Amino acid sequence: MRKSFGIVAGAVLIALSGAAVADEQLEIGQKIYERAFGRGCGTCHDIASNPQLTANIKAGTLDRAKFEQILRDGKGGMPKAIDEIMKNKAVVKASYTEELAVDALYKYVSEK
Ligand code: HEC
Repeated sequence: MRKSFGIVAGAVLIALSGAAVADEQLEIGQKIYERAFGRGCGTCHDIASNPQLTANIKAGTLDRAKFEQILRDGKGGMPKAIDEIMKNKAVVKASYTEELAVDALYKYVSEK
């Protein structure tokens, strides 16, 4: 009885900490999206004539690798963004690597 209670409690704790990590990731992704370049990615991407990131991810034309590549290299009117992302206060505070920061941003944009 005691032992099985411990296992259940352990499983609940693991589930809760997984949810906390996912929430933190989404929150950091949102802060990057809203604050990059001082005005956020949305100043350009929430305008219909520019690429619709969430829709493109859902349509399968913008995978994680392409997303990262564009953030690193820029493209046309799209500024290089990786340095700006790494300067974001939430990213610095969480000591995220570039990998984790891009993961968080991609996850936020996917679900936005
Ligand atoms: C100054 C306006 C501007 C800002 C700010 C901006 N973008 Fe862009 N972005 C563009 C434009 C314009 C394109 C299209 C470039 C092209 O295809 O020539 C683009 C393209 C992209 C693409 C490729 C989309 C696709 O489906 O091919 C991604 C990914 C992207 N931007 C992500 C971001 C993210 C994330 C941010 C915030 C960190 C951001 N952009 C900030 C203007 C902007």
